[in-house]
Amino acid sequence: MTELEQFAAPGSEWWRSAVIYQIYPRSFADASGDGIGDLPGITSRLDDLKTLGIDAIWLSPFMTSPQKDAGYDVADYRDVDPIFGTLADFDEMLAQAHARGIRVIVDLVPNHSSDQHEWFQQALAAAPGSPERARYIFRDGKGENGELPPNNWQSVFGGGMWERVTEADGTPGQWYLHIFDATQPDFDWTNPEVQEEFRSILRFWLDRGVDGFRVDVAHGMVKADGLHDYHAPTDADSMGGGEQNVPYWGQDGVHDIYRDWHTVLAEYDGDRALCGEAWMPTLKQTALWVRPDEMHQTFNFPYLMTPWDATQLREVIRESLDEFGAVGAPSTWVLSNHDVVRHFSRLALTADNPQGEGIGPLSKGKPDTAVGQARGRAASTVMLALPGSTYLYQGEELGLPEAMELPDDVRQDPTWFRTNGERYGRDGCRVPLPWEADAPAFGFNESGASWLPQPAEWATYARDVEQADPDSTLALYTQLLRLRREHNLGTGSLVWEDLGADAVAFRRGGLHVAANLGAEPVELGEGVTFLVQSQPFEGTALPVDTAAWYVKA
Ligand code: NOJ
Repeated sequence: MTELEQFAAPGSEWWRSAVIYQIYPRSFADASGDGIGDLPGITSRLDDLKTLGIDAIWLSPFMTSPQKDAGYDVADYRDVDPIFGTLADFDEMLAQAHARGIRVIVDLVPNHSSDQHEWFQQALAAAPGSPERARYIFRDGKGENGELPPNNWQSVFGGGMWERVTEADGTPGQWYLHIFDATQPDFDWTNPEVQEEFRSILRFWLDRGVDGFRVDVAHGMVKADGLHDYHAPTDADSMGGGEQNVPYWGQDGVHDIYRDWHTVLAEYDGDRALCGEAWMPTLKQTALWVRPDEMHQTFNFPYLMTPWDATQLREVIRESLDEFGAVGAPSTWVLSNHDVVRHFSRLALTADNPQGEGIGPLSKGKPDTAVGQARGRAASTVMLALPGSTYLYQGEELGLPEAMELPDDVRQDPTWFRTNGERYGRDGCRVPLPWEADAPAFGFNESGASWLPQPAEWATYARDVEQADPDSTLALYTQLLRLRREHNLGTGSLVWEDLGADAVAFRRGGLHVAANLGAEPVELGEGVTFLVQSQPFEGTALPVDTAAWYVKA
């Protein structure tokens, strides 16, 4: 065996086949009643996740933060923000999850800190050229008096990527770079002090017992030398997923960082894992993040971005297995997260909707609810049959649609503010979960407060309602997860089957999987016994926008 083949021989590490459930702590469960979810809320609902049948949870950031970007603006990487609880609450949540056999991944935000981080405050107080400024990306401006930004880069959230500071003597001064909001200054990852700080932060959480990290903006931490101008297409996906050769995405230098972190995690027992958030345009490029000595997983965004089209879906699955397989990594699968329109709405959109734009009252191409529900369920039924690790986003097990009618005055995503309302942003996928139809805030808490208003029709998606309905989306997910485990679907390979141009069909051992993405029913033939139908139907013809798992006599 070559060295690569040895690495590539799939081991039994848990992350190769795990179903990982993303918790967005602000919106999961709120024990304090202040309208924002918290860690004790998560602990109180772990049994529901155990019943659902997931293997691990990933928590979006709960560290100390002024919450200018919902916690992706961290002021202290080693503490819990009071709105979410305390470090003791974290330890308790972790222990309770582990006691139930649920692993815990935490979010790490290394590309940038909050402007309230001690280091950035020190940088502002220090002089140009100082070691304090060298932890971030400060540059002199262009123009006669430095009044123009150092280059033309545009922030992911809209507006320029540079902010000018006022120097200690009160004069207009240097500019600092922020890929995201102006309150999120980017670190300079060429600085060894930054590198050492993050090794130490990794160890802080590893020592507490976390099973790994989801690494934020894992394609953005290194910028091209010279910081030359770049003109992004106006209809670009906000995180860069569709563009090649962007000077702040996917630079070679990021890989050195993950090789280094790989060795830090390897010091610990228990197969701790790194999962990268790297929005790259192709699967071949995405797979670079999971070469044997780098990260363990990376999100499969090309899969997430695939529209409801059989040819494209077959192709992206095939390519995912090929490209991740070529570097010895499992493919991951994901359809929803806190940055994209929920897939129970997205897959039925009838107009273009670049990632990050969101949907609001005035959007074009809004989805038909029934079509979105059918496609969402069918898409998840296919996804949970694929070999590799799958990420679920809280609420998709209830079939939650995007909240599309949020009023302007409740919006909180910096995208909305930095584009002057031109892009709605991501609030619509972040609305707090409905747990009980008849309780205040649908059981999100006892007070009835909610940091984003829950649509009235979400009563029908409440967990208690779905628990009582054998045909609910929750019942479907629970059944899929149970069968996935029983049939060991997280590992192994698949064999393609041909059910025509509009179907996606494959076999996992003796288990057949088929989805109909066309406009006419697809006949499955004789001797079919169904294990799962994404929505109930009679006979052996797979209805439009439906998927099934079945065995054949
Ligand atoms: C990606 C995160 O998923 C997103 O929510 C956040 O706004 C940006 N990174 C900046 O941290």
